[in-house]
Amino acid sequence: MERVQEFLVLRFLAIAFTLFLHVDSAENTPNRWIPQNAVQEQMPSSPVKLSKWKDHVMLDNGIVKLTLLSPSGLIAGIQYKGVENVLDYHLREPRRGYWDIVWSRPQEGKSFFYELEGTSFKVIAETEDMIEISFTRIWNSSLNYSYPLNVDIRYIMLRGSSGFYSYGIMEHLEGWPDLNIDEARISFKLHDATFRYMAISDDIQRIMPTARDRMGGRVLDYKEAVLLTNPSNTTLKGEVDDKYQYSYDNKDCFVHGWISTDRDIGFWVITPSNEFRAGGPMKNELTSHVGPTSLAIFFSGHYAGPNFGIRLRNGEPWKKVLGPVFIYLNSGSSNKPSTLWADAKEQMQKETQKWPYDFPSSEDFPRANKRGTITGRLLVRDTYLSQELMPAKLAYVGLAPPGDVGSWQMDTKGYQFWNQTDENGYFTIRDVRKGTYSLNAWAPGVMGDYKYEIDIVITPGSQIQLGNLVYNPPRNGPTLWEIGIPDRTPAEFYVPDPTPEFRNPIFINHNEKYRQYGLWNRYTDLYPDQDLVYTVGISDYKKDWFYAHVNRKSISTNKYEATTWQVSFDLTNVTNGGTYTLQIALASASYAEIQVRINNPNAPLPHFTTRLIGKDNAIARHGGHGLYSLYSVNVPGLQLVNGRNIIYLKKSRRGYPFSGAMYDYIRFEGPPEVNH
Ligand SMILES: *[C@@H]1O[C@H](CO)[C@@H](O)[C@H](O)[C@H]1NC(C)=O
Ligand SMILES: *[C@@H]1O[C@H](CO)[C@@H](O)[C@H](O)[C@H]1NC(C)=O
Ligand SMILES: *[C@@H]1O[C@H](CO)[C@@H](O)[C@H](O)[C@H]1NC(C)=O
Ligand SMILES: *[C@@H]1O[C@H](CO)[C@@H](O)[C@H](O)[C@H]1NC(C)=O
Ligand SMILES: *[C@@H]1O[C@H](CO)[C@@H](O)[C@H](O)[C@H]1NC(C)=O
Repeated sequence: MERVQEFLVLRFLAIAFTLFLHVDSAENTPNRWIPQNAVQEQMPSSPVKLSKWKDHVMLDNGIVKLTLLSPSGLIAGIQYKGVENVLDYHLREPRRGYWDIVWSRPQEGKSFFYELEGTSFKVIAETEDMIEISFTRIWNSSLNYSYPLNVDIRYIMLRGSSGFYSYGIMEHLEGWPDLNIDEARISFKLHDATFRYMAISDDIQRIMPTARDRMGGRVLDYKEAVLLTNPSNTTLKGEVDDKYQYSYDNKDCFVHGWISTDRDIGFWVITPSNEFRAGGPMKNELTSHVGPTSLAIFFSGHYAGPNFGIRLRNGEPWKKVLGPVFIYLNSGSSNKPSTLWADAKEQMQKETQKWPYDFPSSEDFPRANKRGTITGRLLVRDTYLSQELMPAKLAYVGLAPPGDVGSWQMDTKGYQFWNQTDENGYFTIRDVRKGTYSLNAWAPGVMGDYKYEIDIVITPGSQIQLGNLVYNPPRNGPTLWEIGIPDRTPAEFYVPDPTPEFRNPIFINHNEKYRQYGLWNRYTDLYPDQDLVYTVGISDYKKDWFYAHVNRKSISTNKYEATTWQVSFDLTNVTNGGTYTLQIALASASYAEIQVRINNPNAPLPHFTTRLIGKDNAIARHGGHGLYSLYSVNVPGLQLVNGRNIIYLKKSRRGYPFSGAMYDYIRFEGPPEVNH
């Protein structure tokens, strides 16, 4: 009885509140088309119901009500626990929650942001236990100003489930015009007075500024970074806000969202599998950010560059299922965000365990019995470290569309299936869709990318046992010295604190300090007139190797100047006729050229150059890394001397603060030895 009363009171307040806010704007009233008597308190396991109006449809399981525009499929309302609409009902209905893409025609320079709108609504499945509905859009070739793609956006609600699922099927038929898709996602714009607390990981959770706080702030080096000068919550004054500070690698991000501490409810985007995300486990994507906004990103060019995305040419047919993702709502009674976060994580585990789901109706989403499994063991052969084969511990092993070594990090068109090996190198990858794949791997502590020689063909129910696979990482001779750990990130290097005026307090004393704003300028502060010099045997890469090789802002000219780092080391018994090797693994590159000179900083021609590489922009975007690349540079013994040698690493492109590279790992190897 008390609960019912409380519910009614809350509901009344919610209605009163929204009426108060929208007295002059019928357009914005959250649920004007829902008959008021349809709203009742229901027991958790009531049947799922579908209601249809002229231009809206609603799914309701007594826990959550999802209201969609019809036939577009845009999300107008999500009602939960007496909150009329967790979405921002100040916005017009089509702007609250939607699937969207960024697309372009390759021959034009212009790209377009489009919400994906269906033109036809259909009920796919309707029982008391589940309802699946579909909003489709079929490309009309005589309307060639629009994107040549068939789209089918699905929503599923299950009985007793505190949320709903969404997935999308995109299809480009054979013979259709060329198309680029740079980004695909689902966006939720939440109600800002309700949601103030954001949680994206155990230790990245906080009260966030509002969109209005950002508007009143000072835009920093680019528009996404804002210094809060006059926020409504004065304790946030002087903080930097930037959505890129909250990006996460796909491998580490399966749940993120927002909490209303007043209402004690949470809104969560749960991604139960990475099979439909692009670029593999290391791809970085946005999560949630000021708005309040939550995103389910399937792919984007962030941290990978403008070449990342779907590229369809010469009438290539393509089809991909994106999702399902689960939108989860939870509530507590403790007024502690930690309770809701813990519950959201638990739900994420449950969704992951249920994968592949057995309820989506589309034939394009294969059930578990239509999928295959592959097992094996990955070993590393590096005879300069050990005569024995070494198990690849906690290596990432993955199936991705066939391609060159490492091409998976740029792949967006296909599905990818990754898992980690155990301490002994054994791996299992289950629930793989049928198809032909490359088997790829990389292991923390081991340089480079592994690819199995033969493509793997998965058929429904197949159980492929590969046995022992042996990775021979790049290696030409014994290690003379090394800097860092080969793990595709510069995390082990020196990451500075931000200047006090550009802090986000959540990242102070945090092990991901690279998320702070403005670190690229800290290089100038630390090395105002002389570049970094690293002395092998004396320097410590944790303290003496700046995590990003960037330009220096010249105090006299105020311009960003090229920088040359030195690695200084002693050699004895140089083999003049031998070939030494400088291995340079990069964790990111943006408009960078790294030139290598040996013992002569003024040599007119570098001994080696990467040439201009990279557009991943990971330094500006506070990414822990961008795309991975590896260079093996031969150094003839003739260029080396007994005694002190210096390798000069010059980052030669200047004039721009965000031109830079992050090293993952550098190793200098002696000439090959006879016994190897
Ligand atoms: C495609 O668009 C043209 C031009 O507007 C229209 O005449 C035609 O009926 C449309 N075709 C379909 C299948 O909708
Ligand atoms: C669209 O079709 C019209 C008429 O056939 C043509 O003139 C125009 O170039 C086409 N535009 C594109 C972008 O293909
Ligand atoms: C303002 O922000 C601080 C710091 O995050 C927080 O502790 C406090 O509860 C916030 N105040 C309000 C009214 O949200
Ligand atoms: C990943 O590997 C673990 C350990 O072998 C296994 O239990 C799990 O089922 C695998 N997950 C997938 C999705 O393959
Ligand atoms: C250098 O070579 C000589 C002759 O082969 C050898 O005796 C000496 O141990 C070597 N020194 C080092 C430091 O390797």
